[in-house]
Amino acid sequence: MNLVIINGPNLNFLGIREPDIYGKETLEYLEQKIKTYAEDRGHTCAFFQSNTEGALIDRIQQAHSEQADGIILNPAAYTHYSYALHDAVKAVSVPTVEVHLSAIHAREAFRRESVVAPACIGQISGFGITGYTLAIHALEEYKLKGA
Ligand code: DQA
Repeated sequence: MNLVIINGPNLNFLGIREPDIYGKETLEYLEQKIKTYAEDRGHTCAFFQSNTEGALIDRIQQAHSEQADGIILNPAAYTHYSYALHDAVKAVSVPTVEVHLSAIHAREAFRRESVVAPACIGQISGFGITGYTLAIHALEEYKLKGA
């Protein structure tokens, strides 16, 4: 599969940002881990991170033009209020898994709602970096089912 891994605002600050919640690993480390996992399974992956909503939407649309097989999306804080990201995921015919490093349902009330998840095939939250590799596994199974 050709996979696109998209990370939203402040995730470029992984390792610096609230390490007790998000871990000590950097975004580069996370991307390297995912790349190794994906390539070992015969997948290719492209990575993208942005702090701006429009750039994330453009990358989702680009995944459609590239005929990507799956998107793994951590919309970060946009999760909780970006109807534009919801619409972007809905607009493209690329199965998308929403991932969160932290357990968003066990945190502040405003984090418990995702307005993006209803446009996705599923959501994984609370397993740190492992959430991204679980998402790859989920996309493999989704593709096998021919859904
Ligand atoms: C996050 C959870 C969001 O609530 C938060 O705004 C983030 C990161 C996560 O990966 O746990 O920036 O998406």
